[in-house]
Amino acid sequence: MNGFLTITDLHAGYGAAKVLHGVSFSVEQGAVCAILGPNGAGKTTLLRALCGMVKVRGTLRLAGTEVTGRAPETMARLGVAHVPEGRGTFAPLTVEENLRLGASSRRDRTGTETDLRRVYDYFPILREKRREAAGGLSGGQQQMLAVGRALMLRPRVLLLDEPSLGLSPLVTQELFGIVHTINQEERTTVIVVEQNAHLALGIAQQAHVLESGRIVLSGTADQIKADEQVTRSYLGIRVRP
Ligand SMILES: Nc1ncnc2c1ncn2[C@@H]1O[C@H](COP(=O)(O)OP(=O)(O)OP(=O)(O)O)[C@@H](O)[C@H]1O
Ligand SMILES: [Mg+2]
Repeated sequence: MNGFLTITDLHAGYGAAKVLHGVSFSVEQGAVCAILGPNGAGKTTLLRALCGMVKVRGTLRLAGTEVTGRAPETMARLGVAHVPEGRGTFAPLTVEENLRLGASSRRDRTGTETDLRRVYDYFPILREKRREAAGGLSGGQQQMLAVGRALMLRPRVLLLDEPSLGLSPLVTQELFGIVHTINQEERTTVIVVEQNAHLALGIAQQAHVLESGRIVLSGTADQIKADEQVTRSYLGIRVRP
């Protein structure tokens, strides 16, 4: 398979617990790919596999280079930024300290000030709160901080794990709007895991439905939307609001 990020027959798990059983797909450079599926399907594990956090079997290629089994720091240096479930920001540190940490695993650290300005332009609320502790931010602001921190890596690939979790519909809309803008303006490849299929399919071109560690449905976002009958009856997920 050709593509910017190509995953072939990926197996992953936690010790004896096998979670992914041969996942294959490919994402074009600059595309947004949605990973949908019910609880426990292995969505988070898939993103962890893509950023080197869990041991994998299979093949992972980034921009034509095999990167299977690389450590998380290496994947970060190669431009794969992960915004984990639960965000992973450092509560006692200020907003700006969190953002600066995001640049620390980058090979080339020049231009940090420019990158900070860029993140603040995407998320003006973070500029306003830059001297405040991250722990004092609202859930939506913390999610924006987590995305902003990932952007400090100048990522080629942005992995987003359930960015809407715990956020109000309005804040979620805003966040997805900004992710869409980032993708459009910077051609950052995005893989977004979401239980809110409607939202994810709104910004994605491609989608894969994962169930029990296997892809059970793949297609363009429009095809998956049109296949509502299948997705609803088979997986119990909603693709329309
Ligand atoms: N650290 C871990 N150690 C052992 N098993 C784990 C670990 N993390 C997840 N699992 C198991 O792996 C399976 C897949 O979990 P995963 O978190 O990838 O699913 P998910 O699709 O992200 O689910 P959710 O929608 O709830 O976030 C589940 O059965 C889960 O219990
Ligand atoms: Mg998950």
